[in-house]
Amino acid sequence: MIHVCRKEHFNAAHKLYNPRWSKEENEAVFGPCANENWHGHNFELIVTVKGNPDPNTGFVMDMKQLGALIKQHVIQKLDHKNLNLDVDFLEGKLPSCETLVVEIWKILEKELANITTAKLHRIQLWETHNNFVEYFGEQ
Ligand code: NI
Repeated sequence: MIHVCRKEHFNAAHKLYNPRWSKEENEAVFGPCANENWHGHNFELIVTVKGNPDPNTGFVMDMKQLGALIKQHVIQKLDHKNLNLDVDFLEGKLPSCETLVVEIWKILEKELANITTAKLHRIQLWETHNNFVEYFGEQ
């Protein structure tokens, strides 16, 4: 079993704000991410799939195909968007990295099944140089 990883990039704006809390509570919990006039991040998305290499190609899966799939179904919906307002699969959800990795997993797991026998293994999402989140699906 080999793991292959594809990195993609997007820029997006968001605000982390719980409407059930006061402004002060939101600022205490979310810090600068609670800024009411939004702010942006340069996100790095790393998608890992696993499988056995095809004897005809030596590939677990074609990385170009994986990149195209991620771009078509995820990056196009997120890049240069406001995550609180513009993205159908985040509607009504707090757009934290944790929320994003779960929603991105659901999309890619389904789309991958149509084109490859390789399985989704991990979604990793970097929000800053210091902070990233990873998700391995429900264990
Ligand atoms: Ni933020």
